[in-house]
Amino acid sequence: MSIQRSAVIGSGLMGAGIAEVLAKAGQDVIVSEVSAEASAAGRDRIEKSLAKAVAKGKLSADDRDQAWSRLRFTTDTGDLADRQLVIEAASENEDIKKSIFAELDSVVTDSDAILASNTSSMPIIRFAQATSRPDRVLGVHFFNPAPVQPLVEIVSSVVTADAVRQTMTDFVAEVLGKTPIQAGDRPGFIVNALLIPYLCSAIRMLESGFATKEDIDAGMVGGCAHPMGPIALADLVGLDTCLFAAESMYAETGDPAVKPPVLLSRMVDAGLLGVKSGRGFYDH
Ligand code: CAA
Repeated sequence: MSIQRSAVIGSGLMGAGIAEVLAKAGQDVIVSEVSAEASAAGRDRIEKSLAKAVAKGKLSADDRDQAWSRLRFTTDTGDLADRQLVIEAASENEDIKKSIFAELDSVVTDSDAILASNTSSMPIIRFAQATSRPDRVLGVHFFNPAPVQPLVEIVSSVVTADAVRQTMTDFVAEVLGKTPIQAGDRPGFIVNALLIPYLCSAIRMLESGFATKEDIDAGMVGGCAHPMGPIALADLVGLDTCLFAAESMYAETGDPAVKPPVLLSRMVDAGLLGVKSGRGFYDH
């Protein structure tokens, strides 16, 4: 199966980045959003990131124009009927995601199409079960910023067809030029199973007054050669996304390491979501 027509549901931080990656790889991409305002914000995000790629010398102006011309924006899911691949990157809410998968199931006509979720930590099988084709549903998890980070987790549920897993793995490696790794449908897959306990632990350290955010971050940058420290990384990922991931992993595992720190919940209650809202633990 040669995938040429793809779509992304949602154009927030991750959806916009994934749409950009697909368009740069030559895909005909539709970006679907819930409202004209959300769609305009998504367009703006992609346009700015493409401009940054050109400014950083990662993309020629011609390639930017080509990529931009391959993107279409819609607020009507019905426009996705002819898609061969749809990647859902809506907000981390299980009910919203399930209803999106049910809708995609009724809209996407090609029975060979692949329906994927970019969820950070939710069980893929629950989205698969919202469709009449659970074997064609899997997780395709990108990392923020998607145009920069090379990794993609391919997450097979217990019923994902092996041919679907293989098609996506080849697509990610050969068409998108990224590095696929295979993960089981367990809480947090591979990366977030390790990352979320780390971020929660850093926030608890800050909450306890044990160290400043600057020193926690400097510790991991200077001591362990991470490109950024955990508090800055939580801001980059989005504090709402960190909270949803921790909540969903805690609900399934009861592991105290992913019990959401109260400070994280309070930041989200306050609308302080990190880079995406202009203020989180740091000002952006
Ligand atoms: N398009 C293409 N390339 C871009 C770009 C864009 N829009 N923006 C930046 N780049 C390139 C730059 O050209 C640069 O490349 P070189 O290293 O070859 O010069 C590189 O990306 C770094 O960019 P910057 O110089 O602008 O920024 P930086 O050096 O401060 O790095 C960062 C920023 C990439 C975010 C880096 O700090 C980093 O990698 N941080 C860690 C991010 C991380 O861990 N992400 C995973 C989060 S977890 C997640 O997403 C999953 C989840 O489910 C929670």
